Amino acid sequence: MTNKKFWETWNQETVFSFQQEFIEWYEQEKRNLPWRVNLDPYRIWISEIMLQQTRVDTVIDYYYRFMEWFPTIQALADAPDDKLLKAWEGLGYYSRARNLKIAAQQIVTEFGGEMPKTIEEIRQLKGIGPYTAGAIGSIAFQLPEPAIDGNVMRVVSRLFEISEDIAKSSSRKVFEEAMYYIIHQKRPGDFNQALMDLGSSICTPTSPNCLECPIKAYCLSYKNGTMTDFPVKTKKSKPKDVYYVGGIMENSQGEFLLEQRESKGLLANMWLFPIEEVTKEKFEYLQKNWQEKNQQLSFQFEEGAMIAEEEAKIFSDYQQVVWQKRSLGEVTHIFSHLKWHILVFYGRQTGLQELKSNQKWVKEIDFESYVFPKPQQKMLEMFEKNKK
Ligand code: ADE
Repeated sequence: MTNKKFWETWNQETVFSFQQEFIEWYEQEKRNLPWRVNLDPYRIWISEIMLQQTRVDTVIDYYYRFMEWFPTIQALADAPDDKLLKAWEGLGYYSRARNLKIAAQQIVTEFGGEMPKTIEEIRQLKGIGPYTAGAIGSIAFQLPEPAIDGNVMRVVSRLFEISEDIAKSSSRKVFEEAMYYIIHQKRPGDFNQALMDLGSSICTPTSPNCLECPIKAYCLSYKNGTMTDFPVKTKKSKPKDVYYVGGIMENSQGEFLLEQRESKGLLANMWLFPIEEVTKEKFEYLQKNWQEKNQQLSFQFEEGAMIAEEEAKIFSDYQQVVWQKRSLGEVTHIFSHLKWHILVFYGRQTGLQELKSNQKWVKEIDFESYVFPKPQQKMLEMFEKNKK
């Protein structure tokens, strides 16, 4: 626990000069970003949701396309699910897109189609937590509310040497208290965005560029040389390893087997080449075994070479005859709490089989009308590379 609240040592005059110097810096240095061209609350909302777990550079192209496809709250409320997910393809955390549509419908039915203007009402929208409500409220409606994310906590923890563990949600109220003390009352949106820009360009995690910092004269960490001691953050537990075998299976018409995931949970409703969870031991065994076999196989398939029985069991669900197959390698992907390892093989299938209701044979040329999550994109890339 911090026992001193260093911000309380600032008098009104200090607060004002701090705000003024900081806002002047922002006016000169602010990045030209597509959600900063006006104060349209809808545009700001979408940007803040996209920026939650994704970097500015990545977001920009997605943002332009999203605005083109869904230019209004009504358009978003009416968005076909597949088009919505397509707009989000590659951004990850797909529940953000689903929640956006639900919130747009809430705005239409509960708020007469207009973005609500108070923090309490904004907070009622699906997918909007304290950070996003603060960002929308301050930027679009000039409400003097903090928007506290990891970047802002880093800057503010250094500014006042706040030693609360930022990994704990209970620490938030300390940051809120400091922010309410210093936030610019008339220009809270610019103030919050100044903090965001400072956090991403100067007050960076491992090597902050303090000499360029517009508020170094106010910064306790700078004065004491303790920048790298803040923020205090306990280590997150490592993501859990999960092992899969994934099959890129092609039939005699050159179509590929895709399987849709369940409507709940991770990657809900999305399409993947079929994957099946295996134990770590099995995974390692196959990895080793396939590597050895690969050395003897060419990419041309010699029909008739059936896979070993124990390997066939892995794909017993598919029941098709998998002729000779070839291991393509391993794909890994980290979701926030899980690390997927997929051992990918390519196999040719013959024989007729009834597909499960969530499976389809799809031509490669038609892949673009599907929403592929990152692991699927990586599997596809691996396949394309191996084809050459
Ligand atoms: N990160 C989150 N919100 C942002 C914004 N409005 N501008 C720049 N970076 C951000």
